[in-house]
Amino acid sequence: MTIEFNFAGQNVLVIGGSSGINLGIAQGFARAGANLGVVSRSQAKVDAAVAQLSADAAHAIGFSADVRDYEAIESCSRDFSERFGPIDVLISGAAGNFPATVNAMSANGFKAVVDIDLLGTFHVMRSAYPYLRKPGSAVINISAPQAFQPMEMQAHVCAAKAGVDMVTRVLAMEWGGENIRVNSIVPGPIADTEGMARLAPTHKMQQAVTASVPLGRQGTTADIAQAAMFLASPMASYITGAVIPVDGGWSLGGFASMGASLKDLAQN
Ligand code: COA
Ligand code: NAP
Repeated sequence: MTIEFNFAGQNVLVIGGSSGINLGIAQGFARAGANLGVVSRSQAKVDAAVAQLSADAAHAIGFSADVRDYEAIESCSRDFSERFGPIDVLISGAAGNFPATVNAMSANGFKAVVDIDLLGTFHVMRSAYPYLRKPGSAVINISAPQAFQPMEMQAHVCAAKAGVDMVTRVLAMEWGGENIRVNSIVPGPIADTEGMARLAPTHKMQQAVTASVPLGRQGTTADIAQAAMFLASPMASYITGAVIPVDGGWSLGGFASMGASLKDLAQN
């Protein structure tokens, strides 16, 4: 079932929006008529995403910036809102991941992921605040099951994403008075994404993941886009501070076995 949303005239900025799940979210809003901005490090990826989004969006523009660079990420929100007006929907989904045990991870490896996922989310939220529409904007952070389920070889991501969900909840309280709603989406295993390629690098592991999802399939980027559009729409006008799994039920138990499989793979 596909629900048709209408975001015509609204300004949607997707941080980390040049590939995978976040590009899928941007595509959903583009098809619903929004003005789109996408941000990531690689200018080539940004250009390709803008070309793709331009087929559907009212307008699509892109910026190359690293979420670890506060000034650079602030200028994205400023330039986007100067062009289109206040930001109606802000999505923060830039992330980094690699599987490694704590003993195989340098301090800089841990820091790299925490800096991108957690400090990067703070940078995005803090720097975009002056440019958000008040009242009425919707902010969505892209979390991960590692935020609440410990997983071997994922200490950095578990720590960072748990922090992301706490920032979501605190900002929902601090910004609620201005009717800025802040929520997290927790995607399950989303097929054909960089994240899944890194966490389930073999065909056998992909099959095991699929079998561990109660709904019996990996998700699609469209599944996450639908959830994001719901959360940004008036249908969700009383939802804030929520951390919402969109995962076919994977977080009920299936997810827990993935870390052990990764560790086996690394040791054999
Ligand atoms: N195992 C152990 N350590 C690793 C590693 C691995 N597989 N991959 C990277 N690292 C370490 C590096 O050795 C480095 O530490 P050091 O300086 O002590 O050697 C540290 O992580 C940073 O690596 P670097 O390549 O300089 O970082 P970066 O900022 O250029 O890239 C990453 C960040 C590592 C997260 C990179 O994988 C990335 O850009 N990912 C984005 C895409 C992605 O992960 N998508 C999935 C999202 S869920
Ligand atoms: P992806 O395609 O690698 O997406 C990551 C995006 O972030 C890319 O556009 C990347 O582009 C950008 N990015 C990375 N580091 C950045 C930085 N330092 N500054 C700015 N942009 C940066 O991965 P994905 O698998 O779709 O994951 C997207 C999100 O979903 C992540 O938050 C991830 O944790 C979450 N998630 C994924 C899954 C899954 O099944 N894939 C499951 C749960 C949660 P550049 O390389 O150009 O910077």
